[in-house]
Amino acid sequence: MNQEITVMYEKMRARLEKVVPDVELRYKAELAVEINALKKEKNAVILGHNYMEPALYYSIPDFVGDSLELSRKAAQTDKDMIVFCGVKFMAETAKILNPTKTVLLPSERAGCSLAASITAEDVRSLREQYPGVPVVTYVNTYADVKAESDICCTSGNAVAVVNSLESDAIIFLPDEYLASNVAHETGRQIIFPPTPLPSPSGRGAGGEGEKVLIGWRGRCEVHEKFTVQDITTVRAQFPEVAILAHPECSPEVTNASDFSGSTGAMIKYVRQTAAPQYLLLTECAMGDNIAAENPEKDMLRLCMVRCPHMNTITMEDTLNALKYNRYVIEVPEDIRLRAERAVQRMIGIG
Ligand code: 13P
Ligand code: SF4
Repeated sequence: MNQEITVMYEKMRARLEKVVPDVELRYKAELAVEINALKKEKNAVILGHNYMEPALYYSIPDFVGDSLELSRKAAQTDKDMIVFCGVKFMAETAKILNPTKTVLLPSERAGCSLAASITAEDVRSLREQYPGVPVVTYVNTYADVKAESDICCTSGNAVAVVNSLESDAIIFLPDEYLASNVAHETGRQIIFPPTPLPSPSGRGAGGEGEKVLIGWRGRCEVHEKFTVQDITTVRAQFPEVAILAHPECSPEVTNASDFSGSTGAMIKYVRQTAAPQYLLLTECAMGDNIAAENPEKDMLRLCMVRCPHMNTITMEDTLNALKYNRYVIEVPEDIRLRAERAVQRMIGIG
């Protein structure tokens, strides 16, 4: 091993020796050194979502975080190139905020079941069905859908975004479960199209002046799989376990959990508390990343549920992205301008 690779290997081993096999660490340390050299040469920044596998997460990103934190970093960077180790809607958000920079997504297959659940045409017809009602879209949507909306949100600020709007009715797209969880937290009733809005006479869904969130039936293919039974089974074995659920889980699951928040909020929760065990109801790689950061804490994992999209991002593909300038994210300018308004409005709220 040359000196640089040895230093990288030792740095990764210090963090990951209990989480990643040694042979993998040696191989990935070499890749990391090559990626970091190319990153420097191309004046690139690498943004890594919290779901990235541990060796990648702890070696090549300049910044790691949840969708909101990474949107902020994308908005602030002065580098020429952004390599997004995440999924397509995240890379698109970076491009929306940085039209003159090159944005690369290392895999062409890094989609998202939520982003695929709704089209721009769907949003236009919802606006016809509920005229004058503001539209909030989760960042887990493609640029053309963001362009049809008034403001975006992430799981980290969805409640603040909804509370920032004065309207009694708000369209909240596309995650059925996130919408139900946010409705619960903001004291709103959740309805789904084609249910009409409460009429001024108090008929229809809810009553006069009732605050309503109009949802959509999109779901995250990962988080929808967690059940209350999973929680009951784990609690029977570990009565004092702290269970953390992402708000893309069903309301039954978030209600049965001890904490619900964005991936970034879950990381902070583990950092700041001292439970005998933790269980995260989210993509399993994040459990490994938290375990590496908190070796004294006992992390339980339910790894039968994985995000097939996040998992397409590898260090090999990230190296090839930098080597061959791929896969370039483009957003047509008319769509970008409208989407940017909705994203910037969200960033402004926090
Ligand atoms: P966060 O915004 O909490 O990082 O979530 C992104 C995501 O895709 C969760 O599945
Ligand atoms: Fe999309 Fe779910 Fe994967 Fe997140 S975990 S990227 S919401 S499919």
